[in-house]
Amino acid sequence: MKQFEYFKRFSVIIITGGSSGIGCSIIKAIQNIVPDAHLCNLSRSNPDISLGENGQHYPVDLSDAQALAEVSEALKARIESAPEGEVLLVNNSGFGDYGRLPDLEIRKQLTMIDLNVRAVVDLSSRLLPTILPRGGTIVTIASTAAFQPTPYLATYGATKAFVRNWSLALNEDLRGTKVRTLTVCPGPTRSNFFKAAGFDTPPMDGGANKGLDMTSDEVAAYTLRAIAKERSLIVTGWKNRLITFFGSQLPLVAVTRVGASILRKMRLEQHKSAK
Ligand SMILES: NC(=O)c1ccc[n+]([C@@H]2O[C@H](COP(=O)([O-])OP(=O)(O)OC[C@H]3O[C@@H](n4cnc5c(N)ncnc54)[C@H](OP(=O)(O)O)[C@@H]3O)[C@@H](O)[C@H]2O)c1
Repeated sequence: MKQFEYFKRFSVIIITGGSSGIGCSIIKAIQNIVPDAHLCNLSRSNPDISLGENGQHYPVDLSDAQALAEVSEALKARIESAPEGEVLLVNNSGFGDYGRLPDLEIRKQLTMIDLNVRAVVDLSSRLLPTILPRGGTIVTIASTAAFQPTPYLATYGATKAFVRNWSLALNEDLRGTKVRTLTVCPGPTRSNFFKAAGFDTPPMDGGANKGLDMTSDEVAAYTLRAIAKERSLIVTGWKNRLITFFGSQLPLVAVTRVGASILRKMRLEQHKSAK
């Protein structure tokens, strides 16, 4: 009931990457509490679920700067024509790429930086002047990978460290305005993420990360609760919070070595399963 009251304040809800995984679960969770929400989804493919009578899918590749600029103009017009109310923007689109340089495809690494980093800064910055007079919340989906270097997912972890720090700093920059930010750091989550990152099977099925994984619906529930509680940073689940806390107490070099051995194990398991 409380969540329903809170989410009624948003006259426009914009989410990137709602076509699958965590983004799709966030859309479903919002629709459960506000069935007639004005949802705008930005992704390359159509979401499997209906966005409702007030919803709209904007097909866009957010790693393309020109396409992002064009869709931003459409979204600004959409916000300006909406009835009074706040705006919720969820920066969720992202992907990883598992492996080591020089084996990895450089182009894919750079596209990852464009999507996971540049698109988050670009879209938020373009929409912010339109959101500011109305007020609202800018959510960014980072990761527990943001808390330490992540060998074998080196570029991915670094993109998440960037957006975690950027989103937290933006929250302070916006203090005194009607806009706040929330940084969400999920741990391993069942979605298309691992397939897109080059895993044959999700690492939690192979042993590594076993018992740590969550469903995308669980991550969405944590996210919605945190929005309604006006939190600025969450790590989803006590196990992930424990790991990030103890990790932060160790020297960075040592944490990187431990991370490398865990992620190397995943690589071996991936190769084993490929045979
Ligand atoms: N799964 C995990 O273990 C985990 C853990 C921590 C954080 N995260 C983060 O959670 C977010 C969502 O990931 P997920 O786990 O839900 O994975 P997912 O199921 O693969 O979803 C990724 C979403 O990003 C969209 N996307 C990918 N490339 C895009 C592009 N060029 N332009 C626009 N949208 C694009 C995809 O839509 P289209 O393909 O239709 O474009 C899809 O909707 C990501 O930022 C990820 O880094 C995931």
